[in-house]
Order: sequence, then C-alpha cells, then structure tokens
Amino acid sequence: MDVTTNQISVEKTKNTKINDVDFDNLSFGSIYMDHMLVCDYKNGAWEAPKVVPYQPISLDPSAKIFHYGQSIFEGMKAYKDDSDTIWMFRPLDNHKRLNLSAKRLAIPEIPENYFMEGLKALLKTDSDWIPQSAGSSLYIRPFIFATGLGFHASPADEYKFVICGAPSGSYFSGEVKVLIEEKYSRSANGGVGFAKAGGNYAGQFYPTKLAQDKGYQQVIWTDDNTHEYIEEAGAMNVFVRINDTLLTCPTSDRILDGITRKSILKIAEDQGIKTEVRKIKVQELVDAAKDGSLKEMFGAGTAAVISPIAGFGFRDTDYMLPTVEDSYATLLKERITSIQYNKAEDKFGWRF
Ligand code: COI
Repeated sequence: MDVTTNQISVEKTKNTKINDVDFDNLSFGSIYMDHMLVCDYKNGAWEAPKVVPYQPISLDPSAKIFHYGQSIFEGMKAYKDDSDTIWMFRPLDNHKRLNLSAKRLAIPEIPENYFMEGLKALLKTDSDWIPQSAGSSLYIRPFIFATGLGFHASPADEYKFVICGAPSGSYFSGEVKVLIEEKYSRSANGGVGFAKAGGNYAGQFYPTKLAQDKGYQQVIWTDDNTHEYIEEAGAMNVFVRINDTLLTCPTSDRILDGITRKSILKIAEDQGIKTEVRKIKVQELVDAAKDGSLKEMFGAGTAAVISPIAGFGFRDTDYMLPTVEDSYATLLKERITSIQYNKAEDKFGWRF
C-alpha cells in the first residue's frame, strides 16, 4: 500500500503540553512533543500509519520485546530556519539504515513511503514543537519493536513502528574525557554492531558506568579480537586528528555507518582537509599524544553532532589533548550545522 501525507489519519490531543516547555533551556530528549506516529504490523503486513496523541503503549507481558530484545531505532533531527521552514537532514539514509537493522534483527522492513509520509504527517501536526533557538532542534526517534507474543525464542509475528520527538538542546554538557576500554566489547564480527539495535546500547551501560566511576564520561570501544584498534566513542563514531590529517575507522560489521560520520568526511574533503579512513591503533594514539602530533579527537553522531574529546585514559595514564586554534571539530561542526539549519548552500543535496 502507498500512503500520502494527507491520507494519514490525525487524532489531535485535547491537552497540549507545549505551554509548559521552556524552549530557551532545552535539555536533550527529555520532553516529548504532543503527538506520535504509530503503525502496526499484523497478519504479514504493515497497517495504515496514524498520528495520535503521545501516550503510553500497553503491551502483554509475553510480548517478545521484553524477552528477546527485538527492537531497533533511528536518531534524526528536524530544524526550523529563520523563515519557519522545516528541514531534515538526509532522512532517506535513516530509512535505509532502519531497514538494514530490521533485516539483521529479523524484523519486517518498513516501506520508504510509510516512513517518509509518516514523518511528514507527524511534523506537520507538531510543527510548533520544532525549536528555532540556536543549537536546538527536534530530536526524532523512529523505532520498531516486537509486540507479538511468545516465550519461544524466534521472531515475533507482530510489531509496532513508532515515531516520536523531543525538542532538544545539546547532548553533552561539559568536558568529555574518555577511557580506552580493553576488557568489554561493544560488538563483534558477524554480530549486530552495525545495526541500531537497542541491546547494543544497553550493553554499553555497565562498562560506561565503570569508566564514569573512574572520572571519565565515555568509553572508547576497541575491537573485540585484539583490543588494539579504536572503533567507536560511546554511542558515536570517532574521529582523530594527527598533525593535519583527519582519521576515522572504516565501517564494518562492528561499526555503525553514521550519517554524521559520512557527512563529516565529505565536508572535510571539500574543505581541503586531508582525510584517511583506516584502522587506528591505540598505540598510535598514545605515541601521537606523547610526541604532540595528536591534535584533536571527537565523537560524531546525530544527537551530539560533534563532541570534542578533552583527553583519553589508557592503562592508568591520562593523555590530555592540546587546545588548537584551527580546530577541525569547530570548523566541521559549524559547516554541518549551517547546512542542517539552512544557513549555507546545500552543495551535497542533503537538506530535505
Ligand atoms: C544518535 O546520535 O542519534 C544516536 O543514535 C545515539 C543515541 C544513543 C543518542
């Protein structure tokens, strides 16, 4: 079935919460807009998506999401420019990745038309929830989870696709110091690391808490086999600047194909910055930190955009990064957000 935005039914809330929101002081992802999109998968097909008031979802205790964690999500943002036009950034890439995750978790794929038209219908309904203040945006969370019942360890026969959104400010506040993790792994070859599966993130909480107890904010994940190579920074892709070269690791079974990551690489090349996509040894970072050639490290993801790393801990030693005048993190963040907020030419055709 094909749907158009106008065919999606909209049930409006009678109790808007928008007047309680302080749009000038938004935290990240903690206030939810008035409506959500819901779409059920039953009898082998996705039913018509609809916009309904934001509300709790009632589930049977034997729904497979609770037992086997069959659940995937995306993170995306909507921006409002000075003339009140609403923009999204590469939303079709989010749709493609959601379906890659769906396939890996044996979840039925969601048609592009349902995803895009559903998103448009929801954003039209709640357009007042998209912040216009500098640095703020609407963080959008599409997700699919297993509602079908059974303790049998096999894919569910019913699912729910939901999109909700939260007007949000920055993801991190304050300095981010990271610990290079050598014991726990985020992902493994043949696993689900490339997918946005809920469990990938749950598995990070305990090692991250251990790092936080030692005074770090996040973990740098290393490869599960040797722990010699860095792979991701917390829930983000990781970038490193050695001298004037910007490096990031290649995507794989274990590393998320981040939309911010690939956009940053393109923008950097366009700015004449030398980039290299290759494996990065922890020892290379340590050596570069010691000889002063390690200039910057940062995480990149939709939620935080670019999050500079102040320093890293490795085997009981902390290596702090210098403050550089010509920061790539600052330049690239400015470039990508100018495109996202419709303040610069969209030469790559990313705005929607
Ligand atoms: C994002 O950057 O949007 C992510 O999906 C990370 C999330 C855990 C906040």
